[in-house]
Amino acid sequence: MLRAIFIGLSQSQSLRSVSEKSSLGRKLSHRFVAGTELEDVLQATKEVNSAGCSVSMDNLGENVTRIEEAHHTADLYHRLLDEIQARKLDANVSVKLTSLGLDVEEKLARDLTHSLVEHAARINNFVRIDMEGSPYTQRTLDFVHDLHSQDRHRGHVGAVMQAYMRRSERDVEQLLQERIRIRLCKGAYKEPAELAFQKMAEVNENYIRLMKMLLKSGVYHGIATHDEKMIAATMEFAKAEKIPPDAFEFQMLYGIRRDLQRKLVEDGWRMRVYIPFGSEWYPYFMRRLAERPANALFVLKNLLK
Ligand code: FDA
Repeated sequence: MLRAIFIGLSQSQSLRSVSEKSSLGRKLSHRFVAGTELEDVLQATKEVNSAGCSVSMDNLGENVTRIEEAHHTADLYHRLLDEIQARKLDANVSVKLTSLGLDVEEKLARDLTHSLVEHAARINNFVRIDMEGSPYTQRTLDFVHDLHSQDRHRGHVGAVMQAYMRRSERDVEQLLQERIRIRLCKGAYKEPAELAFQKMAEVNENYIRLMKMLLKSGVYHGIATHDEKMIAATMEFAKAEKIPPDAFEFQMLYGIRRDLQRKLVEDGWRMRVYIPFGSEWYPYFMRRLAERPANALFVLKNLLK
């Protein structure tokens, strides 16, 4: 119920524009978003790196409607890749195709993504293409397959699979045939029952099934979850199959379960933290509240303090 309310609110344009412009809104989102400027995310990355975690940087912003916005996002990602290299940070980038203009013109998004992956490959870095809601699933996968099929891009671009999607097992098989790196998550959007499992038990069962396929593939994947049961199942499977801890990484979101992030690093597992930044934080922030409505109370309490 609360989840549905927060997901509904995440799509409200009027609330979004008021919140993103207010300093109160920025204060509220601070727990999950590194800041609004490039320098903020670079600073946060340095701190997270010094705690032994890798990073994936994400410039917040999705469903852009103007060509200039898409170019602006792409320029920012090029600067991020340059800064990662110049400052020797342990980081890559995550990008949403709708922030690169997929809703405006497919060719525009294709050209901008291509040039980003080209840049990442040149400096031996990596671009993760985030997975958005189901209207974008097939197109996103087509992009990834297409980009990865070019020899010089191999290993420098990867996909995200959502365990709540019924189609994911088939998609994982196809990605693995090409040895494409995958981030496995549960899925953050509201999807209808014909496309996605609705019960958490079914999502978890599928998550574990897919996790096993990934770990056995011999490709370097990301197991993205804060769910201790999913994490324990992954460790258990890795140990049973003698898969070394450096053959994959756990991934978590900035500001969520920092205790668990630290503990996994101490225990010798690899951890990558996804750090979002930018002025368009509202939909991302609302999806985080939807996952755990208790966060709304937590955020408010901190604000009052
Ligand atoms: P679940 O939601 O079952 O939560 C398990 C436990 O984790 C909770 O009980 C709580 O303790 C903790 N927790 C989870 N969310 C929390 C929150 N917001 N605040 C505080 N505690 C929380 N989705 C997508 O559709 N496309 C994508 O590209 C990505 N990319 C992505 C990258 C990375 C690195 C991560 C970690 C996640 C994503 N996601 C995503 C989001 C993902 O689909 C999912 O919505 C969240 O990770 C929450 O799911 P969990 O696996 O954590 O489990």
